[in-house]
Amino acid sequence: MRVLVTGGAGFIGANFVQQTVRERPDVQVTVLDALTYAGNRDSLAPVADAIDFVHGDITDTDLVDRLVAASDAVVHFAAESHNDNSLQDPWPFLHTNIIGTYSLLQAVRKHDVRYHHISTDEVYGDLELDDPERFTEATAYNPSSPYSSTKASSDMLVRAWTRSFGVRATLSNCSNNYGPYQHVEKFIPRQITNVLTGVRPRLYGDGLNVRDWIHVDDHNSAVWAVLDRGRTGQTYLIGADGETSNRVVVESILDVLGQSPDAFDFVTDRPGHDRRYAIDSTLLRTELGWTPRYADFRAGLEATIAWYREHEDWWGPQKAATEQAYAAAGESVTK
Ligand code: NAD
Ligand code: DAU
Repeated sequence: MRVLVTGGAGFIGANFVQQTVRERPDVQVTVLDALTYAGNRDSLAPVADAIDFVHGDITDTDLVDRLVAASDAVVHFAAESHNDNSLQDPWPFLHTNIIGTYSLLQAVRKHDVRYHHISTDEVYGDLELDDPERFTEATAYNPSSPYSSTKASSDMLVRAWTRSFGVRATLSNCSNNYGPYQHVEKFIPRQITNVLTGVRPRLYGDGLNVRDWIHVDDHNSAVWAVLDRGRTGQTYLIGADGETSNRVVVESILDVLGQSPDAFDFVTDRPGHDRRYAIDSTLLRTELGWTPRYADFRAGLEATIAWYREHEDWWGPQKAATEQAYAAAGESVTK
C-alpha cells in the first residue's frame, strides 16, 4: 500500500509516519510537506531511510496531481494549526486549510484514490464547564476562531466531494493531542520548556478552560482503524476521556519537574477563547473496536516531559522566536 501523508513533518504527521514505519512494514510512505515554521525534517530522522520525502505545497496542483496518482491512499494532516497565529494573520489558514484541501480533493477525485481527512473537535465550538453533553458526530458545526472556521470549511468540502463526486473519503475529528515532537508554541510543550529554561508557565485568562487530552499515538492508531475499517463518507470522533483544566495541567508539569504548584503566572486571555472541549468517541470504539493505550493522562504527560528533557536539541532552536512572537502579540502578566 502506497500512502501519501501530507504534513508529515509536523507534530501529529511525524508521529503517524514513525508509527506506520514501525508497525506496518507493508506500507510505503511518501511525505509531502512545505516545511513551514511548524515542519521539521528532524522529526522524521528516525525513519528517514524508510520513506520518501517531497518538499512542496499542497496548493501546488501539478505536484499534488502527480503524487496522488502514484498513491493508493492520502492521509491529509497538513494545516496551519495554531489558534493564536490565526488571530494574528488568518490568511495562511485560508490558503492551506481550505485551498490546500480543495487541491487534494480534486486530485483524489480524478485518480479515484482513498482519502482520509484529519480534522479537529474545534469545528463544534465549545461547551460550558457544566454541560452534561459531549461532542458527537451529530453535533452542529459552530467554529469560533479563524483556525477552526477554516478546518470546518475543509470538512464541508470533503463531505460535498464525497456526495457529489463519489470521492472515497473518511473524516476524523480529534481532541487536543500531546506527546513528542509538538511545537513549543502549543500549551503543553510551551509550559514544559518554560520550566526547563527557568521561566514561569503562563495560563491564559482564569486557567479554568478544559481540553480533552489524548496521546498522539492514540490519535494515530485511531486514524489507522478508520483507514482499515471506516465507512466511506463517515465522520469518526477521536478522544480518550482526558478532560483536564489548563490549571491542573500546569500544576502537574510543575509537580513532575519538582517546582511549587503555584509557580505560574496568569496572562492576557486569548480573544474568543473556547471554554471546554469534550469528545464522545462511542462510535469509534463500538464500530471499529478502537481503544486508547494511554488511558492515564498523568503517565503520558510524565513520558512527554521526559522526552522534552532529553531533546533540547530538537526544541531549543524554536524557543526564543516563539516567545518573542507571544510578546510581540501583546501577551502580558495579569496576576
Ligand atoms: P503542525 O502545525 O504541527 O504541523 C503541520 C504540518 O503541515 C507542518 O509540517 C507544516 O510544514 C505542514 N504544512 C503547513 N502548510 C502546508 C502546505 N501549504 N503544504 C504542505 N505542508 C504544509 O500541526 P499538527 O498539530 O501536527 O496538526 C496536524 C493536523 O491535525 C491538522 O490538520 C490539525 O488541524 C489536526 N489536529 C490537530 C490537533 C492537535 O492537538 N494538534 C488535534 C486535532 C486535529
Ligand atoms: O482541540 C483540538 C485542537 O487543539 C487542534 O485542532 C489545534 O490544532 C491545537 O492547536 C489545539 O488547539 P488549542 O487552542 O486547544 O491548543 P493550545 O495548545 O493552543 O492551547 C490549549 C489550551 O491552553 C487553550 O485553552 C489555551 C491555553 N493556553 C495556551 C497557551 C499556548 C494557555 O493557557 N497558555 C499558553 O501559553
